[in-house]
Amino acid sequence: MSVTIGTPLQSSAFKVLLLGSGELGKEVVISLQRLGVEVHAADRYDHAPAMQVAHFSHTLNMADPEALKALITQVKPNLIVPEIEAIATQVLVEIEEQNIATVIPSAKAVNLTMNREGIRRLAAEELGLPTSAYRFASTLDAFRAACDDIGYPNFVKPVMSSSGKGQSRVKSFGEVDAAWEYAQTGGRVNQGTVIVESQIDFDFEITLLTVRAKNAETGEIETSYCDPIGHRQDAGDYVESWQPQAMTPVALEEAKRIANKVTIALGGCGIFGVELFVKGDKVWFSEVSPRPHDTGLVTLASQFQSEFELHARAILGLPVNTARHSTAASAVIYAGVDDKNLSFNGLNLALANPNTDLRLFGKPEGFKRRRMGVATARAETTDQARELAQHTAQQVSVQQN
Ligand SMILES: Nc1ncnc2c1ncn2[C@@H]1O[C@H](COP(=O)(O)OP(=O)(O)O)[C@@H](O)[C@H]1O
Ligand SMILES: [Mg+2]
Repeated sequence: MSVTIGTPLQSSAFKVLLLGSGELGKEVVISLQRLGVEVHAADRYDHAPAMQVAHFSHTLNMADPEALKALITQVKPNLIVPEIEAIATQVLVEIEEQNIATVIPSAKAVNLTMNREGIRRLAAEELGLPTSAYRFASTLDAFRAACDDIGYPNFVKPVMSSSGKGQSRVKSFGEVDAAWEYAQTGGRVNQGTVIVESQIDFDFEITLLTVRAKNAETGEIETSYCDPIGHRQDAGDYVESWQPQAMTPVALEEAKRIANKVTIALGGCGIFGVELFVKGDKVWFSEVSPRPHDTGLVTLASQFQSEFELHARAILGLPVNTARHSTAASAVIYAGVDDKNLSFNGLNLALANPNTDLRLFGKPEGFKRRRMGVATARAETTDQARELAQHTAQQVSVQQN
């Protein structure tokens, strides 16, 4: 059965509750607004980016099961769309079981991917996908043993963490205890468990945006792929991305095979950011976001339907088109200072080239390494697009008031 969209703010409204209201959510909300959906945006602080374009805003601690349940009871959404990992996912499992709302893409996906152990065991042990070698450890002694077992250098990450928080690259046994301490403070919850991963010596890493959406005629869920996105990470945070990333036909097929397997296992409709490491024809699965991916901001400039429009369409059960019209790149704009009430200058220079564009997210507070905006650029080649995107980002200066 096809979706019926009612009128926002009236009894027929089709309602989406967005859990997490950052810059990625903001673009999803704009896409949903264009399709006549009533949007409720939630986050832990007021005036978050997606709240500024939603019909209703809700400020709460989404990791608190009671608070989250109360919000869902109040809003009565058709769809619940998580935008971040730090939410009481057990509540979403119950909501789905009781058929109160549809969780995007599925409660299983949201629950498994919020913990590195869940998704890694699914990918490597159940699905047999190639990954780095790994061990989990919950005590310092077990951690020392795991590091020696995996060898050096290795990557250490709290199982409940994102955006590089609490992560370190451990080069020798002498660095092990410091990595443990750092992981204990950087995790989302004081749960202690970390993953130790062998270092993959990749040529480059990609995000393969993978969409599960219904076929317009048959109603069957089909999988489609955007062109691979290359990106550069600095301290676990993306600083620039480009599309397409050139790779061998064999590696591209293998990337799609991996993405297909993992997204089928997670289930539901929507976009997934499948993170992969590539060396020649060989591909390793790294992790997956069951939602738009930050490196996918480049699709605002490169595709007929950005990853945000693709997500909006897919979750509503509508057809999607992953075709790319341009070669493009994105570059992040940081606050560079810890302050509120910031201003942005130099936009006229940044946008002087007709092949560039900007997003300023409207975050109420900046931190040195907080992403406040992004520049995108189109060009003939990815190298030219990267250069132009970075130049565009650099034209924007942040001013304190
Ligand atoms: N096993 C590994 N081998 C090589 N590089 C890695 C490995 N694990 C992580 N990295 C690097 O660190 C980045 C962040 O790691 P990731 O697991 O994606 O954490 P997050 O969830 O914070 O994005 C990766 O994009 C990659 O550049
Ligand atoms: Mg990642």
